[in-house]
Amino acid sequence: MAFSVKKFVREKIKEIKEKVKDKKALCATSGGVDSMTCAFLAYKAINKNLIVLYLDNGLMREGEVKRISEIFEKKGIELQIWDVKKNFFEALKGKIDPEEKRKAFRDVFYRTLSQAVRSYSAEFLIQGTIAADIIETQKGIKTQHNVLSQIGLDPIRYGLKIIEPLKELYKHQVREVAKEIGLPKEIYNKQPFPGPGLATRIIGEVTPEKVEKLQIATSIIEKEIKSPKVFQAFPVLFNDKATGIINGKRAYGDIIAIRVVESKDAITAKPYRIPWPKLEKIRDKILKKVPGVVKVVYDITPKPPSTIEYV
Ligand code: XMP
Repeated sequence: MAFSVKKFVREKIKEIKEKVKDKKALCATSGGVDSMTCAFLAYKAINKNLIVLYLDNGLMREGEVKRISEIFEKKGIELQIWDVKKNFFEALKGKIDPEEKRKAFRDVFYRTLSQAVRSYSAEFLIQGTIAADIIETQKGIKTQHNVLSQIGLDPIRYGLKIIEPLKELYKHQVREVAKEIGLPKEIYNKQPFPGPGLATRIIGEVTPEKVEKLQIATSIIEKEIKSPKVFQAFPVLFNDKATGIINGKRAYGDIIAIRVVESKDAITAKPYRIPWPKLEKIRDKILKKVPGVVKVVYDITPKPPSTIEYV
């Protein structure tokens, strides 16, 4: 059956209203299309009984907090911001294994969130889980940080009652909903960004220095690649180093991969045939602006067998 966006919005607003009643609900937004759609939808349903929280975990794009705050402000929604960078870097310290990193992120994320739920006296947590998150976790490919019940985590352990209004939808449908409820184009067209943020794009240990390098490279790539055919475009920082030359001297430096994929629903993906001059331009900017990089490579692997992210 065709997806009716108007009907979906109507029904979900009604559902959220009926569930939350006159209690308080908290929605943590990462600034991505799923959680922003959730926040806007919930705000339409319960208005001032919704608390929208941005956990500034240090793993997001450069300048993200400011951009997100402005969008909420325009809609008259007050965004709460918690600076929790230290907690996240502490939790990720020394972790190398991908699933261990995901688990560490998840644990600190839900610990912080349950603290927030308590401090705002909220009874409900509204989450932007979408269908692809659930499918991927079910298949056991990797645990998505936002599918609590699927990864055997008991929401009650964190004192949370969960509402997941988007869980039957795929990304393109979420975008339709976002547009319908008045989110700006920069959000409904925004590339997906994983919950654990840049931690999924750093192979090996996550440190503030590595995140900073990736933030610079991310801005470069996102500015250069605007094609509507592209589902995601991002850099990845390798754990291994390679021999290169910096300022005329031998240097054992960083390797960055550029990953640009086309996809409809993130279940499968194919590498985007990026024009060579564009690739060279991105390479040059990365080499110039990201300190310590001696090698830039382009990833041509489809999903499967690869996944979109590296961790
Ligand atoms: P993979 O790497 O599994 O990614 O092919 C599929 C899609 O999901 C995003 N992704 C995540 N999203 N929490 C999320 O909310 C996560 O833990 C997570 N891991 C990957 C990824 O960016 C891609 O769009």
